[in-house]
Amino acid sequence: MTTTTAPRAAARVAGAVKVYGGGDTAVHALDGVDVAFPAGRFTAIMGPSGSGKSTLMHCAAGLDTLTSGAVWIGETELGALDDRRLTLLRRDRVGFVFQAFNLVPTLTVAENITLPLDLAGRRGDQEWIDTLVDVVGLRDRLHHRPAELSGGQQQRVAVARAFAGRPDVVFADEPTGNLDSRSGAEVLGLLGRAVRQMDRTVVMVTHDPVAAAHADEVLFLADGRLVDRMESPTADRVLDRMKAFEVRT
Ligand SMILES: Nc1ncnc2c1ncn2[C@@H]1O[C@H](COP(=O)(O)OP(=O)(O)O)[C@@H](O)[C@H]1O
Ligand SMILES: [Mg+2]
Repeated sequence: MTTTTAPRAAARVAGAVKVYGGGDTAVHALDGVDVAFPAGRFTAIMGPSGSGKSTLMHCAAGLDTLTSGAVWIGETELGALDDRRLTLLRRDRVGFVFQAFNLVPTLTVAENITLPLDLAGRRGDQEWIDTLVDVVGLRDRLHHRPAELSGGQQQRVAVARAFAGRPDVVFADEPTGNLDSRSGAEVLGLLGRAVRQMDRTVVMVTHDPVAAAHADEVLFLADGRLVDRMESPTADRVLDRMKAFEVRT
């Protein structure tokens, strides 16, 4: 038996290449990325617009496929799965938070939160769901519909939904992009608490240094490559690092 000091990866990609289009107009959105997202950590992905952040997240989450390279969620390599198994993996082992909330307007808050479990025919852990409802502060909104909630409240529903099935990893793409700074801070605080107090794993794409500072580590992408990483980020240090990109280009 071998021992290793590397933390267990909740998700990882190796040799990740993504090319959109072909010929003269081909865009190399990912140009050879190797990265592991450690379990129990909050990782932020930063980089200039067009650097490949969303592409990396979508491919790592099984929402899109790589041109070449490999993706794992836990120990499962996604390339080995047929469409049905990939759909099940996305439903059961990955959580998502999107900039645009993506709640189902006809369902109540409670129904939205348990939707992934209901689709899977899983009852879920009622105690865990109850805890989530309290953590996101939505106990008195459970029977409301999304249109009756503020943007910040809607995104808190989306956060609860993402964690409801205890997925291996929750991916969030610009989760504060549509929120005012106070609501955004609440959502970021929730993601941080899920990791530090509830032992969850979060990977968040953002272009906001203040948001990135909530993470344990920030990965920097430029032109489809991983160019730097920063442990225990602060907003000021992240901002300085981002300015360096602008000077260079
Ligand atoms: N569906 C697509 N078709 C063609 N090009 C795309 C597509 N999606 C993204 N791109 C291109 O790939 C590059 C990376 O995009 P993206 O991952 O969205 O960057 P980011 O999230 O960092 O802004 C950009 O040049 C973008 O224009
Ligand atoms: Mg993006």
